[in-house]
Parts: sequence; C-alpha cells; structure tokens
Amino acid sequence: MNYISLIHNRKSVREFSDKRVSLAKVKEINRYFTKGDKRLVPGLKLELHIFSTDVREALEGAAGYNKFLVGAPAYLVLLSEEHPHAALNAGYIMEDLVLKLADLGLDSCWVTFDNSDAVKRVLGINSPLDVAAIIAFGHGKKTSKELRVNVKTMSNVDIAAKYRYMDPKRSIREIVYLDNWENTDGVIEHIGFYGDMLWDALYAASLSPSYLNRQAYGFLLHDGKVSLVKRPDSYNREHDGEVSLGIVLLHFSAVLGSHIHRLSWALGSDAAKLPLPEGHEVVATLSL
Ligand SMILES: Cc1cc2nc3c(=O)[nH]c(=O)nc-3n(C[C@H](O)[C@H](O)[C@H](O)COP(=O)(O)O)c2cc1C
Repeated sequence: MNYISLIHNRKSVREFSDKRVSLAKVKEINRYFTKGDKRLVPGLKLELHIFSTDVREALEGAAGYNKFLVGAPAYLVLLSEEHPHAALNAGYIMEDLVLKLADLGLDSCWVTFDNSDAVKRVLGINSPLDVAAIIAFGHGKKTSKELRVNVKTMSNVDIAAKYRYMDPKRSIREIVYLDNWENTDGVIEHIGFYGDMLWDALYAASLSPSYLNRQAYGFLLHDGKVSLVKRPDSYNREHDGEVSLGIVLLHFSAVLGSHIHRLSWALGSDAAKLPLPEGHEVVATLSL
C-alpha cells in the first residue's frame, strides 16, 4: 500500500450510498486481517467481525457520538483479549484496516462505544474477548457537502453538514519538540537531519484521526530516539484516547517503515524516563 498517499487522502466519511460492499472486498479485508502483519502487541487473541447494514438498527444507541450512529452499508468490529495495551494495539490494527479499505476504494468512519458487553449483545457476538474498535464503512456518497464533527462541548457534539470544511489538524510545528517538552528551537533542522524519513512519518502522524479530533499527543525527539507522549485532555475518554494513540503510532510507523525495516516500539512509560509536565505520559519510544 502507498501509505503516505492513502493517509494524505483519508478523511472520515459519514454519508454512504446504498451500494453494497462486494463479497470480494469483504474477503480481501478478512485475508488482510488474518495475515496479521501490523500488530503492536504480538500474540494477543483477536477476532474481526464484519456485519452488513442489517445490524444498523440494533447498533443504534450502543455506539456513536452522543449515540448518533454513522449509518453505513457495513461495519467492522474488532475484539481483543484483555491486556494493558489492548486499546493501543486495537487502534494500530484497525487504522491499518481503515487504510486498507481506502486502498480498496472504500470510505469509512471510526465509531465510539460505551460498553463492550452491550455491543456484543446487540450484535449477537458470543466471545470471551472484548469489543476494542468499531468502523463504519462502504462507498461514500458523492456530494459537495460532508458531515463533519463540530465539538461544542463534551456533551454537545454536533454532526452537521458542512461545505468543504475539513477537521483541522495541528501541524508538525505544534506537536514535535526537541530534547525538552515544548522546546521547538532547532526541531525543524533536527528532523531534516534524517532526510525525508522523519518528516514524512511525523506528517503522517499529524493527519491521524482521533476521538473528537482531540489530537491529545506530542512527539519528543531525544537521545537519537522518538517518544510519543500523551497529553492530558479532559474531553478524551480513556479507551478512545488509547485507541487514538494507537492510530498515531500506525500512521507514523507505516510511513517510517518504508525507510526502516523492523521497527520496534518499546511501549509504556518505563521505556524513556523523561521530565514531563504533570499529567503527560510516555506512550511508546523508538530508536531512530
Ligand atoms: C476512537 C475514535 C472514535 C470515533 N468515534 C466517532 C463517532 O462515534 N462518530 C463520528 O462521527 N466520528 C467518530 N470518530 C471520527 C473523528 O471524529 C474524526 O476522526 C475526527 O473528527 C477527525 O476527522 P478526520 O477523520 O476526517 O480527519 C472517531 C474517531 C476515533 C479515533
């Protein structure tokens, strides 16, 4: 897959045509998932369930911002074994599937949920694993207007039709620091030291979809390494926040992976003891 181009062109789509997703594409999604190339935590038990639009009514009320479910011809539901990094791993795997969908010419949107057991119940899933991520997908409606998210307050998320409005993202200059948190002096020169490789990977990371578009993270470049740091964010919910960080790691790794083979993230705050402001936490660290 040409990750940089897929990441550049991806956006959340919330209006779909009635066209069904072909069986060949469903099979290809299953094959790609089963191949299992992209795993942040290897060896975790996982299940991918693919549903048609028939489950839409049942899923209403159990998933979506303020219980507003994105109506779509199909849904992906990823289940995972319990693990401290299960949500991070799920974000990583599911975003790779989002990009695979894009590669197959399909549009998609992440869907939040409150309660794994409730989702399993309404979908009739009988499994000891927990629901870790949901994606709505299909063929996006060809229209000049797009449904975009307007976060007014945490309990007032407006999903409205907007014309040519893109959820804005923070730029590399606002999310990458050198040696000390919030130090931006020399960052651009330092990124340039690695040629295009680090620039492309950080740019891809900056385009990540996140829960309520919060982008609650930053990167710290230090000691020949890069650490992804979680910022405190009162709007974020625990599970969705972790999933969003897994998505950032996927975007970054997928693009860096075309320059460096065998990327190995050390997960957790013990991997790099960094002086960070209160509430900030190292999520993952990689040697460059
Ligand atoms: C974990 C997670 C849950 C999300 N849940 C929903 C949702 O329930 N409904 C929705 O419309 N968008 C949802 N989104 C999509 C985000 O709102 C979207 O990614 C963000 O606004 C940025 O827009 P973009 O994806 O077009 O770049 C979710 C995204 C993530 C990462």
